Amino acid sequence: MDDASKARKPLSVDARAIMEGLNAEAAPLSIWLRTQANAPAQRPWFHDTGAEGAGVMSAGRVGAGQMKAVPHLWKWREISPYLEKISRIASEADVPPVEFADRQQFLLTNPGLGGRLQVSASIRCAVSVYNPGDLAKAHLHSPNASRTILSQNGGYTNVEGERCEAARGDLILTPNGTWHDHGNDGTSPVMWIDTLDWPLMEFLDVIWLDEEFPGKAGNARAQSADKSAGFSQALYGRGGLKPAFTGHQRGIGKNVSPMFQYRGADTRAALGALRSQTGDPFEGISLEFVNPANGGPVFPTLGFGAQMIRAGEETALKRETSSTVYVCLEGRGQTEIGGKTFDWEENDIFVAPNFLWRRHVNKGAKDAVLYTMTDKPLLEKIGQYRAQGMAAGKVTQIG
Ligand SMILES: [Fe+2]
Repeated sequence: MDDASKARKPLSVDARAIMEGLNAEAAPLSIWLRTQANAPAQRPWFHDTGAEGAGVMSAGRVGAGQMKAVPHLWKWREISPYLEKISRIASEADVPPVEFADRQQFLLTNPGLGGRLQVSASIRCAVSVYNPGDLAKAHLHSPNASRTILSQNGGYTNVEGERCEAARGDLILTPNGTWHDHGNDGTSPVMWIDTLDWPLMEFLDVIWLDEEFPGKAGNARAQSADKSAGFSQALYGRGGLKPAFTGHQRGIGKNVSPMFQYRGADTRAALGALRSQTGDPFEGISLEFVNPANGGPVFPTLGFGAQMIRAGEETALKRETSSTVYVCLEGRGQTEIGGKTFDWEENDIFVAPNFLWRRHVNKGAKDAVLYTMTDKPLLEKIGQYRAQGMAAGKVTQIG
């Protein structure tokens, strides 16, 4: 209990009854009379040095409607059979996948958020499967979205006329305001993770979606590729070189990356090339996917990264005000979050919500690779990003 809570005396029975009576009387006016029974929503995380979870909600009316994301891990071997099950239902029902309605995917729900379709306060994640012949028609929307490809090969996303052929480890962006369609014209199913800032946009009431793609011959289900294959790589694929002959606006999105595809093979090669560096005590060898036009995050709301936790590596405890979703692309290891240990292996997905101490451990003989999705860029913009590290019980401010 914090000092402020200790100082607060409970209401007398009489006072409580009077307040409840007043509130009953005032309810038709849609107002509620605040009492001292309501503490701030969360205790001050920056004083707390224990590895247990911080951010416990207060009691009382103010806290009653609030929910907090909890750390959680979705085991691939437990969730992936449902892709097959929904695929079978879809194929038997002859229903093509259409985004948001009956596309073949399941959404991940954080157990702390009461069934909401989100893994953290601002992030939505889904796992999608596209079988040969599947096609999600062209559309455009205000939320920013991404695909992290789990299948080895197969499937594609067209974004603003660029056909992005999917391969494992690729990050394919469909920024706000870009026309995109997905499909699989190969011979085997393709699976990927969709990550969106949808809950934030919903909260701000700025969700909109357009499904009337103005193709050359009128409304079209899919875009034809009017860019050369590998357009993103040709334009931005060599770090440190920014094309000077062209603008960097694609689609009508604001503050988003004009590079739509980041190749998994390139990312893995970059991690491998940096393996012998000291790295970060909290994150190992870590890379950030950036907007090549300005070096900033790919979306104003979401950041994406890749990190290698090397064989035998144990990182130090860190916590941030941002939340991070992880997916294991390679190897296996453990992450301790808020005093709980989560064992992960390939394709497992887990979330470290804000305020919780975390660290990564790789006791194996092989390097492990994690991809990350975080709302850190958003929190930095609104002046709410903080990070702390802990070593030998001592807390230091690191961000
Ligand atoms: Fe979409």
